[in-house]
Amino acid sequence: MSRLCGIWGEPFIDLDPVIDTSELPAIDREICLALTDLEASYTGGSLKWMGVVAPFVHDDGYADLGEVILRLPREEWLDLVSLADDPSVFDVERRADFTFGDETDHPLTRRQMLWLKMRHGVYFPWKVCYHLLENGTWEDKHSGAGKAFSEGAERLLPRTVAFVKRLPFTEIGRCVLFGIEANDHAPVHRDSEPGKTLTIPHTINFDPRGGKRFVLCDAEGGERVEVRSKVYWFNDMDYHGVEPDPFFRYSIRVDGVFDPRWLDALRARTRRRR
Ligand SMILES: [Fe+2]
Repeated sequence: MSRLCGIWGEPFIDLDPVIDTSELPAIDREICLALTDLEASYTGGSLKWMGVVAPFVHDDGYADLGEVILRLPREEWLDLVSLADDPSVFDVERRADFTFGDETDHPLTRRQMLWLKMRHGVYFPWKVCYHLLENGTWEDKHSGAGKAFSEGAERLLPRTVAFVKRLPFTEIGRCVLFGIEANDHAPVHRDSEPGKTLTIPHTINFDPRGGKRFVLCDAEGGERVEVRSKVYWFNDMDYHGVEPDPFFRYSIRVDGVFDPRWLDALRARTRRRR
């Protein structure tokens, strides 16, 4: 525990005892049917370039799109932008001005991601990513102002949306399904930097089947804690990742603002149990 930030002295908070999980089997069935129709995307292909992976991950041999794009020969950079929705906005003479991928002005199109994967071996850890509730930017993910669940989520995931709406948030700013294909893994990274925010980000993750093999660890990969809960809150300032398994797994992450009374009760419960 000593090298993890954790929450209130715990490596993470198991929410299974305080959230009704009885609907999760039905929700799992609903989600798997919906995923055959919903338009999911790849994500996570630039974690190294974004500087959020644990130091030991930098040398793991998996190609990162930020680093690949930086080194593209001129004609291949032109191939990349030819696959954009509007290639005319790009100018190869000013290529250093353009950044691509998650959290940039130029999110990649599906064609660009497929090309980066197949031509340059870029590794996208999450090949099934679907926003049930879209956030504009990372900073904006805890505010619910002006946001709504997507039409696809409301139509194909009604039980899941109802479950999310029952979670103890006063507002929800982001809700995303992250799916990992067989044999893929999520590289160890952290989502926020210790010391940058005053409070631990309010997030709930749920893994309807359990057994995703989500792990927390320190910057060297030690102090490993596997989260076996179906519903949990972890401190995303801690390094975390998902181990590979020979089958598809997924979980849903919800960001927002916790109901303060629920949070007080959870803190008291956690202290009592220590
Ligand atoms: Fe993360």
